[in-house]
Amino acid sequence: MAVYSATTTAPVNIACIKYWGKRDTKLILPTNSSLSVTLDQDHLRSTTTSRADAAYVKDRLWLNGVEEEIKPGGRTATCIAELKRLRKELVEDVDSAAPTLSSFSVHIASYNNFPTAAGLASSASGFAALTASLAALYSLPCPPTTLSLIARQGSGSACRSLLGGFVAWNAGTLDSGLDSLAVQVAPETHWPEIHALICVVSDTKKGTSSTSGMQRTVETSPLLQHRIEHVVPQRMIDISTAIRNRNFDRFAEITMADSNQFHAVALDTSPPIFYMNDVSRAIIAVIEEYNRVALLPENGGKRKAAYTYDAGPNAVIYAPAANMKEIISMIIHFFPQQEVFKDSFGLFGTDGVGV
Ligand code: ADP
Ligand code: DP6
Ligand code: CO
Repeated sequence: MAVYSATTTAPVNIACIKYWGKRDTKLILPTNSSLSVTLDQDHLRSTTTSRADAAYVKDRLWLNGVEEEIKPGGRTATCIAELKRLRKELVEDVDSAAPTLSSFSVHIASYNNFPTAAGLASSASGFAALTASLAALYSLPCPPTTLSLIARQGSGSACRSLLGGFVAWNAGTLDSGLDSLAVQVAPETHWPEIHALICVVSDTKKGTSSTSGMQRTVETSPLLQHRIEHVVPQRMIDISTAIRNRNFDRFAEITMADSNQFHAVALDTSPPIFYMNDVSRAIIAVIEEYNRVALLPENGGKRKAAYTYDAGPNAVIYAPAANMKEIISMIIHFFPQQEVFKDSFGLFGTDGVGV
């Protein structure tokens, strides 16, 4: 008997212009556009296997070996339903000899090789890998941008992980959400010198999930409106230009400003949300001082590193590869490591103040 199975991986992406706020919570339509860098597949990733079998009685999902309930009408159920619909419409209705996999239940098993729900974008790689594995199982003839419409309904940030390099998620204006999708601004090969260093300050699950945190911000923060209307649109244009021109100084300036405004908006929420901790703030101080010295005319007058924090205390530092050695020794000097994994990409720690 044929076994229908597909395994796919998807990397995390870390936003430089942050998505924070939904105008439609069911379709996951954002209040502003966002832009991120998709990290290399070799590092932080989700690996997902999907199987379809006529003998399965219901759709089931295991995350890191533990079964998670698939709530009817919930995000996972929506993604699965959308992909089954595409299988039927684009494959089975066209080729009547194709197996009717869309009528079988699926079993999905996913593993993250990094902390889940700790502010390192596990929902992004997780729903991108889930979407990609079902699309492969169903042999869907869809480009990544089309699949981004489905991954978006699992977790907003997931739509950007289906594309590599520098990726924008255009907020769109349609109520249907059909123009709220991810597009590549530049491939990774355009600017391969940019590397990312992940500093694991804490690998524990965060207190406020991104979903509930941003909902509370939409309901209570007056600063969010200012951000949406007067700040993000210009930053999207400016950072895209900086990327196209490989202007790291400008890229860093905008990235750090946007991370700080996102955390200001979290603080402007009632009750306030604190995603960063003292170690996160100390890392900011170290990078700010490093850039202050780099900005002196006698040192070249350009920033050498950019920090950014998602909804958690863990820092991501973007910098040209040439500066990474210096940055890593500086971080290790100020934050002695408990456990460090070294690879070609940088350092990835798992315990305490790890880098
Ligand atoms: P993060 O900062 O890690 O993205 P979120 O609060 O946005 O945290 O989302 C975490 C949730 O994403 C998890 O509780 C789980 O429901 C979902 N998730 C994480 N990894 C996966 C995965 N590999 N497959 C499916 N869902 C996942
Ligand atoms: C701070 O995509 O995790 O990482 O759409 O509710 O699943 P849901 O939220 P999620 O939010 C990510 C927020 C962020 C910024 C970003 O990735 O753009
Ligand atoms: Co998330």
